[in-house]
Amino acid sequence: MSAMDKITPFSQYTYEICKSRFSSEKAAQIYSQRHLFSKKNKREQNCIRQALASTSKQSLILDLPCGTGRISYFLYELGFRVTGADYSVHMIEEANKQLHVSDISFEQQDIMSIRHPDHTFQAAVCNRLFHHYPAAETRRAALKELMRVTDGPIIVSFFNSLSLSACFSKVKNFLKNKKPIDRVPISFYTFKKDIEACGLKIDGSYYCRFGISPQTYLKLVKK
Ligand SMILES: C[S@@+](CC[C@H](N)C(=O)[O-])C[C@H]1O[C@@H](n2cnc3c(N)ncnc32)[C@H](O)[C@@H]1O
Repeated sequence: MSAMDKITPFSQYTYEICKSRFSSEKAAQIYSQRHLFSKKNKREQNCIRQALASTSKQSLILDLPCGTGRISYFLYELGFRVTGADYSVHMIEEANKQLHVSDISFEQQDIMSIRHPDHTFQAAVCNRLFHHYPAAETRRAALKELMRVTDGPIIVSFFNSLSLSACFSKVKNFLKNKKPIDRVPISFYTFKKDIEACGLKIDGSYYCRFGISPQTYLKLVKK
């Protein structure tokens, strides 16, 4: 049974939208070029590197969702063994195109029902997924599943509402009378409540551009 079997229709809807949005060949091709050489990519990598500073090299890390593998390849360069996983088979196909080392493998997985036994990984990275989950129960279900398969820290990004960019979007949406259900910033406090409800605690926070960019990283460990 998946963690999503018992949830509200709204959570189910936003979770399904996120899966289908990236599930085409075209979406995967576009995504594979999108962040590669950007400053944003470097800043994200920097946050993840800091969050994993005390994780021993050679640890097996789950990168979920891996998209087309940009973070998986970065983790490999840092010295980790990596399993990259994503719901979209097209993303996995793109990720596999660059594969030339045995310390990375890519596979299709749904974050809500990961086909691995408990405690398989020594750490997990979940980059750029939670801003697609506006409902707390979706975020909590995903966190619990990551927690099940991971012994060490979980590094997770979210869109922080306390940032200039998030404030601009809020004003823009207000003026257009729009209530977005995707790419939704949430407060640090809201996410902290999700984290604590799952039996996790925050062990570090890292910002792409503090106060400007919404992209924020947390290092979570079991309580
Ligand atoms: C914005 S992309 C981020 C990809 C990657 N983490 C990165 O930063 O480049 C979001 C990814 O989440 C994947 N995804 C959406 N729903 C998922 C689910 N239920 N389980 C696993 N992956 C999912 C999509 O296929 C897509 O590749």
